[in-house]
Formats: sequence, structure tokens, C-alpha cells
Amino acid sequence: MAFEIIATGHYVPSRRVTNDDLAQTIDTSDEWIRSHTGIGSRHIASEDQATSDLAVEAALNALEQLAPGKAMEAAKTIDLIVVGTSSPDYYGFPSVACIVQEKLKIENAGAFDVVAACSGFVYSLDAAAGMLRGNRKRALVIGADLLTKITDWSDRGTCVLFGDAAGAAILEKTDAPEEGPGKRGLIRTVLGSEGSGASELLCARGGTRDPFKAGETLDKPIHIYMNGQAVYNFAVRAFTDTIERLLEEEGITFKDVKKIVPHQANMRIIRAAARRLKISEDKFFMNIEKYANTSNATIPVALDEYARSGDLNRGDLIMTVGFGGGLTYAGNLIVW
Ligand code: ACO
Repeated sequence: MAFEIIATGHYVPSRRVTNDDLAQTIDTSDEWIRSHTGIGSRHIASEDQATSDLAVEAALNALEQLAPGKAMEAAKTIDLIVVGTSSPDYYGFPSVACIVQEKLKIENAGAFDVVAACSGFVYSLDAAAGMLRGNRKRALVIGADLLTKITDWSDRGTCVLFGDAAGAAILEKTDAPEEGPGKRGLIRTVLGSEGSGASELLCARGGTRDPFKAGETLDKPIHIYMNGQAVYNFAVRAFTDTIERLLEEEGITFKDVKKIVPHQANMRIIRAAARRLKISEDKFFMNIEKYANTSNATIPVALDEYARSGDLNRGDLIMTVGFGGGLTYAGNLIVW
């Protein structure tokens, strides 16, 4: 029994905002953003879009790949919906997964969200695989975020970093081996957390710790606070440790891995990790220049672009690695 990704998809909103566009209203520049992050542009959702709208489009894109022209029919074969998100449509409930279930008319499927910030898609894949061990066969696994609606647009240290997107993968339980020669699909996952760093990256207001009060006037909407330097240091360490752990536990080296599909938070984090690991930057599939940091969506969007590039072949061993608020970190090893 193996858990294989049989289709992928993604969606980005149509409105593309370049660094130069941002520099018209924010005290920043294309030069600063590119040199400090590698970001060139981001896509920003429209006022009337919510996270589930992006998630549904990404799911349809994956279902269309699975069954061209029959995406809504293919949706009926889904037994489980897992959505990694940090920016759900609603506070607490309903989950984005339930909204996706209704919009795609998926019948008889369990649906829930995973909250692990930018590691969410990696966590979600492993959660879905675990839950397919029962009598379920197919899971729709989505990473979706609309961070630009929870961004402090007066804080140039964070607002230039984020964009909106969703990515999806359809995970299926197959008869292929999960271990030994010829093993396929999701073969190993590392999951980690460091709650001691929670205050370095958080949305402080609006939860039960500090709820909005009746009559209160807000000077800012709910927004992301980040201690950039602290998160940077954590990210480089967690990122390299996760990669090394996956290699060690699997008993393989970088030579065995075709590509690493990482969370796209900052090109400098990837460069620092590549130096530490003594590997080429080319080992990483990057698209941060186009989309910026879309949190839960970066890995599935990159995975879909990589899969559709023609360079990812059946049998290739790849790795995903994420890190983010919580703090969390995680990685998967996948035989495509
Ligand atoms: N444009 C121009 N100047 C800026 C900007 C900007 N957008 N932002 C900050 N600056 C200035 C600062 O004011 C500061 O100026 P000063 O020296 O005069 O005080 C200078 O640039 C340096 O600022 P730093 O914050 O020290 O910049 P740094 O090199 O640390 O880069 C960054 C900041 C890009 C945020 C980096 O710390 C980083 O990438 N951190 C990790 C972020 C991350 O990976 N997050 C992932 C998780 S996201 C999630 O989970 C939702």
C-alpha cells in the first residue's frame, strides 16, 4: 500500500503587483526587495475573494488534470479533504475544507483544516496519508492562503513579503509498495514544532487570548507580526536540520534526491541553507520571484509547476521542506 500524488494543480489571483508598483505607495524599492528576499512580484486577491475561492480553483485545476473535462465528476471520488491554511474564511469554523467540500459538491468526504502556518501543506500530506490507511482511497490536499488581507500594509518589513495563492494535490492509496525496492509515493515525513518561538511570528489580536471587544475601535485589522531576524535564524536552522534528518533516516545522500521543493519565504534563506549543506542552489525548485511568500500555498504551487515542467518523472525522488509560524517545520520524501 502506497500513498501517491496522482494529480496537482494551482491557482493565483489575476492581479499581479510588482515591487515597483508597491514602491509607489510604500517606502521601499525593487532593489531592496529583490536583494533582501528574491521577490519580484506577488499576486493579490480581489476584495470579494476569500481563501476557499483560491482553494477551489486550485482543486479544480488538479481534478481537471486527473479527468480532463470532467473535474466535477472526478470530485465525487474524493473521500477526504485536508486544507492547510493560516487565513481561513471564518474565525474558528466552518473550516475552509468544508467550504471546498460544498463548492465542489464532494459527497461523503471528511473535511478539516490543518493549522501549521507555512509548514501546513507538508503536515497535511502526512495527515491525509495516515487517514487513507482506513477505508478511504483518495484525498484532496490543499495549501491555501490569502495573507494580503491579514498583512499590516503600513509595515514595510512584512508587507512586501507576502502574496496570495493556493495549490492542490490528489493523494491516492495504491497497490504499489510503500517500503523496499520499487517503493512509491509519500515514503517519509519529518514533523517538528518549537512553541517557544511562538511570539516571533503571530497574529496577536482576535483570538481568545486577546479578543476584539464590543465598541473597540481598531487602528489596524488583524495582521501578521514578525520578528524577521529571529524567524530568519530559526528558518535556516530548521530547514537544514529537516533536510539532513530526512536524508539520514532514509539512509540516502543528496545524490539520490532530484530536487528539493522548499517553502518559498526568502531566497536568502535558501542560499544560506545551500551553503551550510554544501549543495548547489540549483537543487531547489524556486518560484519566489513570481509569487512571493504565499504561506501554505508555496510548496503545492511549486510542486505543481515542477510537475508540469516536464522535468519531474515517475520514479524521481523529491523532497519538500517547510517552516513557519508556531514555530513549525516539516519535510516529506516523495517518490513521484
Ligand atoms: N524596503 C526598504 N527598506 C526596508 C524594508 C523594505 N521593504 N524593510 C525593512 N527595511 C529596512 C529596515 O528599516 C532597516 O533599515 P535601518 O537599517 O535603517 O534600520 C533595514 O532595511 C534592514 O532591516 P532588517 O529587518 O534588518 O532586514 P533583514 O535583512 O533582516 O531582512 C527580512 C528582513 C527580509 C524580513 C528577513 O529578516 C527575513 O526574511 N526573515 C525571515 C522571514 C521568513 O522567512 N518568514 C517565514 C515565515 S512567514 C509565515 O509563516 C507566514
